[in-house]
Amino acid sequence: MKQTVLVIDFGSQYTQIIARRIREQGVFSEIVPHTVTAARLKEISPRAIVLSGGPSSVWDGGAPSIAPSIVESGVPVLGICYGMQLLVRMMGGEIERSHEREFGPATLEITDCGGLFSGFQSQADVWMSHGDRVVRLPDGFAGTARTRNAPVAAMGNDERKIFGVQFHPEVAHTPEGGKILSNFLFNIAGCEKSWTPEVFTARAVRDIRESVGDSRVICALSGGVDSSVTAALLREAVGASLVCIFVDTGLMRLNEGDEVVDMFAKSGIEVKRVNGGDRFLEKLKGVSEPEEKRKIIGREFIEVFDREAGGVGGAKFLAQGTLYPDVIESAGANAAAATIKTHHNVGGLPEKMNLKLVEPLRELFKDEVREVGRHLGLPSHFLDRHPFPGPGLAIRILGEITPDRLDMLKRADAIYIEEIRKAGIYNDIWQAFAVFLPVRTVGVMGDKRTYDNVIALRAVTSLDGMTADWAKIPPEVLETVSTRIINEIEGIGRVVYDISTKPPGTIEWE
Ligand code: XMP
Repeated sequence: MKQTVLVIDFGSQYTQIIARRIREQGVFSEIVPHTVTAARLKEISPRAIVLSGGPSSVWDGGAPSIAPSIVESGVPVLGICYGMQLLVRMMGGEIERSHEREFGPATLEITDCGGLFSGFQSQADVWMSHGDRVVRLPDGFAGTARTRNAPVAAMGNDERKIFGVQFHPEVAHTPEGGKILSNFLFNIAGCEKSWTPEVFTARAVRDIRESVGDSRVICALSGGVDSSVTAALLREAVGASLVCIFVDTGLMRLNEGDEVVDMFAKSGIEVKRVNGGDRFLEKLKGVSEPEEKRKIIGREFIEVFDREAGGVGGAKFLAQGTLYPDVIESAGANAAAATIKTHHNVGGLPEKMNLKLVEPLRELFKDEVREVGRHLGLPSHFLDRHPFPGPGLAIRILGEITPDRLDMLKRADAIYIEEIRKAGIYNDIWQAFAVFLPVRTVGVMGDKRTYDNVIALRAVTSLDGMTADWAKIPPEVLETVSTRIINEIEGIGRVVYDISTKPPGTIEWE
């Protein structure tokens, strides 16, 4: 029986991080909106509940709440930030609007080194973010820590197993936050470490076999991590009934298409590769507008894939590498957010082809997908690659895409990544890539005047791609990259480094 810790979301930017931190401790966690019904809760039957923070104040009209029966169910509860204030309010304590807001680092003075703080010294660094503060605790509760501005920075009722912290144990700025979560999960809620890649894989294999039976399954390989791990998992579950179709758009990184096919061949998985390079370039001819490029590639992909898959007899299922953040996003408030960039995927394919979807990674975060991939024997250098957009290099060539430009960009990007790997900083960077700018600038090489294009280098650090900072790559590394690109690639006369953050910039240039 799977143990689940439920994370009830009040709209905090950290909700997904809370769920990830819990899973890193080896316990499965699931995020639900605060409107979750008592009946749904009973169905999930969680081993513990965590109430997230959120932008609201309990003083706001219509401040989000939860059904009182959830707190009274006897399941251990940990409220974080807004979650703690809500608990206080619901159980008869008192909250005051604080005149001094507290955001950022703070020193926690721990008054009770038991419960959540078992194994702690009397002080800890924590990350605070709150406007309101607790002035009277509910009956049966004791304050267990304070900060300069918050007389109650943590509270608990050991008997009822209900706890609250005003700070954020889930963020990296609370260095001992993992210990607090671990105390809650294992000492207080009695969870067991039961969420590992082995357990997940065994369960996924069983579930896939159950739903697919003897039917053939088609997997749409994009060459990315998610679809590759999906394919490896399917292979484990259904063996030779799996048919992998890899539509090579010709817009991947240098030699990447070959590498994908070779890697699968080594694991005994046969991949049907469809080289669509010329066709894609033909359709993209003369197109400069980024959204237009995305739409053309999406449409072409579906058409090429559909034609290939149509030739596979007896298939009733289509496997897709949908991840947990996609599932939450399309179910949550963010679903209605304005489209900034249309993300290309195989959406729309299953309906068109009359196939049922198999999405074995629906419950996983990206880091977990990589772990499962490793468990299934895919090589780390493949799994740990930086994210890559579906439309590929088409949105990294500004303006019109031509075979020449594509070739220059692929080679520049390969040099950049090679040097970053050599410098040992590849894994510190969320995403690094080169961008082709169709701008011609003057230079001098030997004694000759040149009039060539520009390559922009982009590298960002990020937690989830939603916000990003530009990576502080050592100047010596940038220097080597620049020299090599200009010397080795005819047609490139200048290299620049992008120092924009997201927001307001985006990670990709288009
Ligand atoms: P932006 O540029 O929006 O990128 O800051 C955030 C993340 O999304 C990736 N990205 C895409 N991925 N199709 C994809 O599959 C797309 O059209 C697309 N556009 C951006 C980007 O590489 C980054 O990781």
